[in-house]
Amino acid sequence: MSKEELIDKAIKAMKNAYAPYSKFRVGAALLTKSGKIYTGCNVENVSYGASVCAERVAIFKAVSDGERNFEMLVVATETEEPTPLCGICRQVVCEFSNDLPILLVSKKGKIVETNIKELLPLAFTKDKLNKGGE
Ligand code: THU
Repeated sequence: MSKEELIDKAIKAMKNAYAPYSKFRVGAALLTKSGKIYTGCNVENVSYGASVCAERVAIFKAVSDGERNFEMLVVATETEEPTPLCGICRQVVCEFSNDLPILLVSKKGKIVETNIKELLPLAFTKDKLNKGGE
């Protein structure tokens, strides 16, 4: 699976975005270590808080299919500049990987290569639970 194919899948998923409120369409494509691809788009709701981001849709689809080991995440938007993941999605990525490579892709094909460590340094991860406190 090439980066180009994964980018293509994220752009295709973006076109399925349900974003009537923000009009901000986002697509994601998640490659698993087993070679599968799970895509996602943002799905908004009239009760705004019930909306969900493209990245979490892709991750939750993968996890619900028994996949927890991820190789790469691509996030596509129609903006001039690539769009970074929101904080909640960063935390959700961190649940499953502390070094996931992430590609952010803009409309003009501009690509930012990053990873979850860079996007969420000093993360609160599961190894920190039950260390101290009561
Ligand atoms: N959104 C995503 O899907 N992913 C991001 O990383 C940033 C934000 C969505 C949520 C909402 O539907 C719209 O973009 C505007 O915030």
